Amino acid sequence: MVKTNRANFGSKLGIILASAGSAVGLGNIWRFPYETGNHGGAAFILIYLGCIILLGLPIMISEFLIGRRSQANAGRSYSILKPGTQWKWVGRIGVLASFLILSYYSVVAGWTLEYTLQAATNSFAGKSANDFIVSFQLFSGNPWRPLIWLTVFLLATHFIIVKGVEKGIEKSSKMMMPALFILLLILVVYSVTLPGAEKGIAFLLKPDFSKVNGEVFLGAMGQAFFSLSLGMGCLSTYASYFGKHTDLARTAFSVGIIDTVIAILAGFIIFPAAFAVGIQPDAGPSLIFITLPNVFQQAFGEVPALAFIFSVMFYILLAVAAITSTISLHEVATAYLHEQFKMTRGKAAKFVTGGCIFLGIFCSLSLGTTKEYTLFGMGLFDLFDFVTTKIMLPLGGLLISIFTGWVLDKKIVKGEITNDGTLKGVIYPYLIFILKYIAPVAISFIFINELGFLK
Ligand code: TRP
Repeated sequence: MVKTNRANFGSKLGIILASAGSAVGLGNIWRFPYETGNHGGAAFILIYLGCIILLGLPIMISEFLIGRRSQANAGRSYSILKPGTQWKWVGRIGVLASFLILSYYSVVAGWTLEYTLQAATNSFAGKSANDFIVSFQLFSGNPWRPLIWLTVFLLATHFIIVKGVEKGIEKSSKMMMPALFILLLILVVYSVTLPGAEKGIAFLLKPDFSKVNGEVFLGAMGQAFFSLSLGMGCLSTYASYFGKHTDLARTAFSVGIIDTVIAILAGFIIFPAAFAVGIQPDAGPSLIFITLPNVFQQAFGEVPALAFIFSVMFYILLAVAAITSTISLHEVATAYLHEQFKMTRGKAAKFVTGGCIFLGIFCSLSLGTTKEYTLFGMGLFDLFDFVTTKIMLPLGGLLISIFTGWVLDKKIVKGEITNDGTLKGVIYPYLIFILKYIAPVAISFIFINELGFLK
């Protein structure tokens, strides 16, 4: 391994919780339930699990080994592993993606703070379904409030990032991830014991394969990538801080399991509560910011104190999940600027935070005040979302699997999987087979489909 004196995570648990913190985010608690709702429930979940095991984990292991072997940020790792080739662009595009994702993700993350405040000041009480629609539209279209929350959220992320890898990222993840898990469990218990919750539980557990079509497979794959933070160097950046004894495959399994369990638990909060009051979970940001507060009011309407506690805990949970993800996105760009341009970490972080607040403001305004200005028919928020999740991430995942499966010296791959022969590495042949053949074909397929060529 290349010797450097760069930062490191301090413990095995810290490594797992920081990586799981990156993976667990709005993707689990907002996007996963809505995708499940749209794609028929349990059958989608089974296919999603298949995608995690067959594609997600092998690509996660690839990112881990690229990061740990190169001991470098995403932008530089490919130049170290394959000097003088164009592979460096995979890393650089990843850094750009981290900037774009952070900018629009922070807008939604900011909303979680507004909703935490609204829940905590009891402003949901007594509102009707229609009131929730109006208040969400008034808030998200307001020219100031969302910008303030976006800035607050990015400054909080900044504050953790400048504390460094071990004292900032690792320590905060070790506090926040267990808290998140406890909050989730409490909410699940509340939700599944509501009268009428059985329908929601059945929806999650009884697969209806009649709803399965090609699109369900593609939706599941896309969700697996986003949820595991794959395709743009997030996990390779974290892996550059792993120690040489870290078992990469085992760590990937732990992260995959935590991420999946949390997504499914989020489903067990949302569906039982929604079905209990006869509301179908619908799509988009409206699910957690319009439908859910209404669901909570109705579901616990008899006991206002419960509605209050449930709502406050839910939005705190969302904010915590979001910040451990924004930290990882921020780190990709900060590590790149810090190492590539020899800036101090603090200065690099200021550039990233400043740049993302700037871009984030335009993303946020594009949902209200500047709605009429579009590019390719989309506002900036939708454009950033589309370009990153539909183009940059699948392309990144495809290139990463080709890089590890075909380009990188097999001795390096095997050395990293087995920690230079000290671990058994039973998965090695399967890993290579998937990375060489299955992942490139499957991802090319999502990619082509998402760009609409198959429609
Ligand atoms: N995985 C996170 C979520 O589920 C979001 C995220 C963080 C992400 N880093 C990423 C998504 C990198 C794609 C790529 O919310």
